[in-house]
Formats: sequence, structure tokens, C-alpha cells
Amino acid sequence: MSSRIELDHVRQTFWVRGDDDKQLREFVALDDLSLAIGEGEFLTVVGPSGCGKSTVLDLIAGLAHPSGGRLTVDGVAVTGPGRDRSVVFQQYTLLPWRTAQGNVEFALEAAGVKGRGERREQARHYLALVGLAEFANRYPHELSGGMKQRVAIARSLSYEPQVLLMDEPFGALDAQTRERLQEELLGIWRRTGTTVVFITHDIDEAVFLGQRVAVMSARPGRIKEVIDVDLDREAAGETDLRATPAFAAYRHHIWTLLREQHGAPVQRSLEEVRTVA
Ligand SMILES: Nc1ncnc2c1ncn2[C@@H]1O[C@H](COP(=O)(O)OP(=O)(O)OP(=O)(O)O)[C@@H](O)[C@H]1O
Ligand SMILES: [Mg+2]
Repeated sequence: MSSRIELDHVRQTFWVRGDDDKQLREFVALDDLSLAIGEGEFLTVVGPSGCGKSTVLDLIAGLAHPSGGRLTVDGVAVTGPGRDRSVVFQQYTLLPWRTAQGNVEFALEAAGVKGRGERREQARHYLALVGLAEFANRYPHELSGGMKQRVAIARSLSYEPQVLLMDEPFGALDAQTRERLQEELLGIWRRTGTTVVFITHDIDEAVFLGQRVAVMSARPGRIKEVIDVDLDREAAGETDLRATPAFAAYRHHIWTLLREQHGAPVQRSLEEVRTVA
């Protein structure tokens, strides 16, 4: 598998105010973080809250520049956002003056889909995929939090970008919707060969979706371990993959890696994980 995205000894610092609220200090969010993501790979990233997951995604998206190290996509240094990379952010980011349908159509237009009818059809298709066919004409303020997030997901999927960057996209959804969208996302990934980088707090979700799971450590954020997930989905057939001993072994391994980390944030994060599971 050739490497499409490469982070090479990446460092990211921020200037933050100190306790005295006057002095600016350098805060090291990521340090010496190296990670190669293959073409067409589905990589999931887990780590405690505040360890730098969103920061990594922002860097790949080109929304921020690393303070140190090198970040390339297809061998070219990332200097800004590009249409090849689409982001589903942790917070909802819809245009409030456009309906759900209008939001998806807008993205298709920006992506260069010329025909109006084609944009309408494609937007309808993806809104139906996320279960919002009946809500296409609603404005964001008329939608629930989870619905808004589903519109954002439909929008990102609609133009089938080469790289899909997803920051806890299913966090606000109920268990059934979440599982359905996980299956849909896997289906789209298999069909389109898009490269997916998917951040989650949920260990089960990371193992279920990822071909590899990158576990991050906190302070400063770096990659602790990357685990190859080798689950036989075909053999599992109708049985719940999550209930198989192989799945449980991966879950336990990652849980142990996260638990090994010290400090309160890790404990909080694990509790969140348990609540979700
Ligand atoms: N613009 C910024 N200025 C200052 N500090 C920042 C900035 N962005 C992020 N940070 C800090 O960098 C660290 C990593 O933040 P980030 O949002 O990447 O964490 P995360 O792993 O995505 O957390 P969560 O799981 O809670 O979403 C945090 O300590 C955060 O406070
Ligand atoms: Mg985050």
C-alpha cells in the first residue's frame, strides 16, 4: 500500500495564556508525531480527550500548518485546504440560510458538479442515505443536533472526495443510526476506494471500522501504537462481529493501551468510552 498521507515528526504548538493571564506560553499539542496513511486505507484514531486528534485532522485538512516536521499528501507538502480532502467536523458546520438539501447542493456546486438536476438528485440520494429524505427542506435551526450532523455527513459523502477526514462524526447519534451509518460508510469506502481518517472516542467503533487503529497518547500528543485489525467480516456473516472473541481481543488491547496512560483526562475518556459502548 503506497502512502498517500505522511506525517513525519510533526510538531504543533499553540500560544496560550498562562495562569497569571498575562504571559503567553508555548503549549505543545503534538510532538514528534509520525504516521503514514495508505492510499484507500480506512484508518481510525482513538485517544484521550485533548490529546490532539482534531489538531491532527486540521493539519491534514490544511486548515493549520505544523510548527515543525513535514506533512505531505501524495508527496506534496500540504499548504492549505483542497477539494481532494473533505472534512466532517466535530461541531456542526452548516450554512444556516440554506436548507438541508441546499447545504448538500452547495457542496456539490463547489466540487464542480455542473448540472442543476444532477446536484438535486445527488443531494436527495445522500440525504436519504443518512435517513433525512423527509427533512430535505428544513433549515439547520429546524433540525436536531444529530440531524445536523447527518446533513454534514451527507454533504461530505456527496461529492466522493479522495480523502475523507471525519472527526467523531457519529458522536451525537443514537446507537441504531450510528450502526447504520457505520455500515453505509464502510459500503461507500469499499465502493469508492476513498481514503478515510476517522476519529472516535469509541473503541468499538474504531475496531469495527478501521483496517488499522492508531492509538494516541496525551501530552504531548503522539502515536502510541498502530494496530492492524484483521477481522474476517465474511466469516462473521449474520453474527454480530462485535460479539466475536477476535473483536473482544482487539477491544481489550486498545482499552489497555488507553488505560496505561496516566492522569485524569484518560480516566474521563475511558468512562466516556464505556458509556458509549
Ligand atoms: N487554537 C488553539 N489554541 C490553543 N490551544 C489549542 C488550540 N487548539 C487546540 N488546542 C489545545 O491542543 C490540545 C489538543 O486539542 P484537540 O482539539 O486536538 O484535542 P482532541 O484530541 O481532538 O480532543 P477531544 O477528544 O476532546 O475532541 C488541547 O490541549 C487543546 O486545548
Ligand atoms: Mg477533537
